[in-house]
Amino acid sequence: VRPVCIAGTGSYVPEKVLTNADLEKLVDTTDEWIVTRTGIRERRMAAEGQHTSHLATKAAERALEQAGLSADDVQLIIVATITPDTLTPATACYVQQNLGALGAVAFDISAACSGFLYAMKIAKRLISDGAFENALIIGAEKLSSFINWEDRTTCVLFGDGAGAAVLKKATEPEDGEILATEMGTDGRQTHLLNIPGGGSACPITIENADQRLATLAMLGKEVFKHAVTRMKQSAEKVIERSGLKPEDIALVVPHQANLRIIDAIAERLDVPYERVFTNLQKYGNTSAAAVAIALDEANRSGRIKKGEHAVLVVFGAGLTWAAAAVKW
Ligand code: ACO
Repeated sequence: VRPVCIAGTGSYVPEKVLTNADLEKLVDTTDEWIVTRTGIRERRMAAEGQHTSHLATKAAERALEQAGLSADDVQLIIVATITPDTLTPATACYVQQNLGALGAVAFDISAACSGFLYAMKIAKRLISDGAFENALIIGAEKLSSFINWEDRTTCVLFGDGAGAAVLKKATEPEDGEILATEMGTDGRQTHLLNIPGGGSACPITIENADQRLATLAMLGKEVFKHAVTRMKQSAEKVIERSGLKPEDIALVVPHQANLRIIDAIAERLDVPYERVFTNLQKYGNTSAAAVAIALDEANRSGRIKKGEHAVLVVFGAGLTWAAAAVKW
């Protein structure tokens, strides 16, 4: 099996900031409730006319630049998103066009907050099998288009953004390597977190238009419990498979949904809090983009250095979960 590495990362968040104080004016909530229950202080909102593919393209350009790859070189583009520009074609097709990466095969995957690591596992396998030499994987979301801005239980949690990584065949020892990947799904829990309308099960019509069915609905408390259990198990599997011990892990980069979930996982994995990356304070939960943005910020700020080991772990609607152990 050919080893596969992460050759570059990139991210982009829109300029517009929505603070907890702004939300206090929209719904019956307080900065204090949001900070103590979630850790979130502000989130970013895409501008009018700025779609998921635009956010994805900006993140991708930064990842390609860091990897030293031109758009012509890209062979595979996978966009993980639950907020595509259009139901069809895939957002990855718009990204291919925007980048001018016309030699690449492009498609989307839908695995909610777990999508970026699902994309990583798929791309890693396609590269190690020799089907492709490299891949651009992107987590991108414009969740602001799918939020019910009158529902305080969800609207305070989410934000817009995109993160990307370039994967390629590792040829030199200093390239690093994606050591292990793991993913799982529990389709019995589809009701815990979904966007019920807008698909074939519940098309949006004139009759139901005022019910805001094409917005995110979540049973937060239930999701919370599953998140802690599944993320812990998933992280443990990749740690074991890659032969690492908790003390070998320089950084855990978890999905950014809730600081309390992250605290619980760090404790259960026996990794000290200084070795856990968080940025949800600034961006809220950006679903598939969250772990990708976090990985890029960790990389560019030097929180992960060449030769060190990182564990990425995610959880989302589906329910879905995934993890990866990476030698940087
Ligand atoms: N402001 C003030 N009060 C609020 C707000 C708010 N924004 N939202 C809810 N409340 C109230 C509730 O109405 C409830 O009031 P009640 O006790 O009178 O009924 C009270 O606060 C407690 O609500 P809970 O839902 O029990 O609060 P909890 O501590 O569970 O926190 C939260 C809610 C933050 C959603 C948490 O459950 C959570 O983070 N869940 C996991 C989310 C997640 O990980 N999602 C997965 C990824 S998302 C994806 O895949 C797209």
